[in-house]
Amino acid sequence: MRVTLEQQLAGAVDADLTAVFGAIALAAREIERKIRLAGLSDTYGAVGATNVQGEQQQKLDVFANDVMMDELGKLNCVAALVSEEDEEPVICDHPGSKYIVIFDPLDGSSNIDVNVNVGTIFSIQEFAGGDLSAAILQPGTKQVAAGYVVYGPSCVMVMTTGDGVSGFTLDDTGEFVRSSEKMMMPQQGPYYSTNEANASTWPDAYRGYLKMLLAGELNGKTYSSRYIGSLVADFHRTLLKGGVFLYPPTAKVPNGKLRLLYEANPMAMVAEQAGGAAVNGPTRIMELQPEKIHQRTPLIVGSKAEVEALQEAVAQE
Ligand code: AHG
Ligand code: MN
Ligand code: MN
Repeated sequence: MRVTLEQQLAGAVDADLTAVFGAIALAAREIERKIRLAGLSDTYGAVGATNVQGEQQQKLDVFANDVMMDELGKLNCVAALVSEEDEEPVICDHPGSKYIVIFDPLDGSSNIDVNVNVGTIFSIQEFAGGDLSAAILQPGTKQVAAGYVVYGPSCVMVMTTGDGVSGFTLDDTGEFVRSSEKMMMPQQGPYYSTNEANASTWPDAYRGYLKMLLAGELNGKTYSSRYIGSLVADFHRTLLKGGVFLYPPTAKVPNGKLRLLYEANPMAMVAEQAGGAAVNGPTRIMELQPEKIHQRTPLIVGSKAEVEALQEAVAQE
């Protein structure tokens, strides 16, 4: 039976949250088209500016950000928009607005020019009036919805509103049509996924952990390495096949590279809803109290077996 994103949401959440997803789906369609035809237009490469992260902004980062801001900014139910590409939140002055949308408009920027999967990641928090800055910094446990779009051989949105994880594939009529429901992550997987070039500056516990995995000491399982360098793609494979994705603290990024609000929290909500787990080492990602909108965190996310073993390894350090 053909079920669209909108049809699934209609029965499950309020009209405003359905409208937020509709705006994200519209933006995703525009971004997907831009990526698909990037080679034929002036879309590749850097814009020559650095963003608040101190990273070279790619043209597609800016395009995706503009499209997300555009589509979501039209909704009266949106109180604020927080983006990796903007230093400060965009406050939308709509009385009675109730949702805050926090997003990484284009994840995996280093892969844009080489035609490798990139994505858009989103986290949705509720605003019940009062202090909007505090509402923007709610912990991940308060997310009302989260998900990502992975632009690849097919364009797939994976999302949750707190009642399991569903996948929707963009069809050739421009609709996101349900292609997976009640997605569950295997309890243990065949893959570990990390940038091993940083291993020499990880805390010892992480090197010991990887050695333990490779020695087949976790339930006798052997592992293969897979690392795409786009969180959305590495996470999507982990969701479907199981295993663990790790971005530990390194000498260069002692607090981790990935951002809590628009990378770690949304992926953590999807992972937990699919029976997996997500930690910063010792602590559950979604319990971390954000202090700043762009704060970074170590991220270990994936199947319960591997994530719990990492927590143990770090606790013993
Ligand atoms: P973004 O493109 O939004 O800045 O995110 C890139 C992130 C994430 O997608 C990926 O997991 C990580 O950077 C890869 O980092 P390294 O290149 O340091 O491995
Ligand atoms: Mn990212
Ligand atoms: Mn990004």
